Amino acid sequence: MFNWDEFNKEEPTEAKARPQPAPVEKADAPQAEESKAEYQSAASDNIAKAKASLESLDVAPGLEELEMGAERVEVDDKAMINCRADLNQLVPFKYDWAWQKYLDGCANHWMPQEVNMTKDVATWKDPNGLTDDERLIVERSLGYFSTADSLVANNLVLAIYRLITNPECRQYILRQAFEEAIHTHAYQYCIESLGMNEGAVFNMYREVPSVAAKAAWGLKHTQDISNPAFKTGTTENDQKLLRNLIGFYACIEGIFFYCGFTQILSMGRRNKMTGVAEQFQYILRDESMHLNFGIDVINQIKLENPQLWTEEFQQEVIQMILEATELEIAYARDTMPRGVLGMNAKMMEEYLHFIANRRFAQLGLPEQFPKAGNPFPWMSEIMDLKKEKNFFETRVIEYQTGGALSWD
Ligand SMILES: [Fe+2]
Ligand SMILES: [Fe+2]
Repeated sequence: MFNWDEFNKEEPTEAKARPQPAPVEKADAPQAEESKAEYQSAASDNIAKAKASLESLDVAPGLEELEMGAERVEVDDKAMINCRADLNQLVPFKYDWAWQKYLDGCANHWMPQEVNMTKDVATWKDPNGLTDDERLIVERSLGYFSTADSLVANNLVLAIYRLITNPECRQYILRQAFEEAIHTHAYQYCIESLGMNEGAVFNMYREVPSVAAKAAWGLKHTQDISNPAFKTGTTENDQKLLRNLIGFYACIEGIFFYCGFTQILSMGRRNKMTGVAEQFQYILRDESMHLNFGIDVINQIKLENPQLWTEEFQQEVIQMILEATELEIAYARDTMPRGVLGMNAKMMEEYLHFIANRRFAQLGLPEQFPKAGNPFPWMSEIMDLKKEKNFFETRVIEYQTGGALSWD
């Protein structure tokens, strides 16, 4: 990993042509009289130019935008969508759950390079390290997720962030967006470590039908609001936003990730590809927090805008969740043509019905797969652990920060 000491040490000849950092002057070095005069003359010229420019500047439009003298923000002025209260003022908090999730997310920071991949590289390169069916699972998982998290991040920062009009939720969305960048980084790190064909893996969402179908479904449900001219404020458009949030959080993050995660984590439990499995474990813990945040956002919007949650709309949401579940089951069949790692497509189908039931219940909708059991109870244990409380307690990570760099 890059660090400042490496940057300063003697470099090979071909690297010397690269631009070098400007020498840093010591703050206490005595300044020559001549350069002092030169500085003063240049400074007074530039100050005069800035003053003249400010005098001719018409600041009235900016002041109007600031609404100078407007009343201070009250908690009751805040709203999830279509809010007119000043979005630059984080406090007073109205949605404490959003702020708490932001703090929990920050308490769980991790980076892909912290995970040792040495054993995985040896397993991957050994022709007998994995069966063909196990290899297929690793390839499909990295293929799907490496682009899925970019699609997720794009929807988040280019559409959702703009349309959720609440600063504490936006604060969490910014944290989530960075976590999505870390996830894409983690997949890239796995692909690079294993020496996989990068072009083939990253283009899989346009080449393999069961992966493409999930990507296309996700894009269809995020299209409406990704238009920069899209505005909320009418029942029709507010429902479009709600539909997107349900497609994005409850279906993409809440269903589409589950087959691949279960497969890779099962591999790790059998002591195979433990580095990849550890990366997926960290990601899954982040994702379960994203999902819980999304469900809270959706339910809060429903609460504040009950007119959006019509019987017809509820039927549409049920349909969306059923479609997403079916696509994930097709992905399970494609990636598990026969039994592998103590699981098979039939077991995954029941598990996905169990997961879909949870999404229905979280959104206040009737469960559509009554009595579906959970064939993989260990998955719930991994997700339900309060990572923010105990997951990283035993690990001490020193991140490279500005304060840790030596400038002498
Ligand atoms: Fe992610
Ligand atoms: Fe996510």
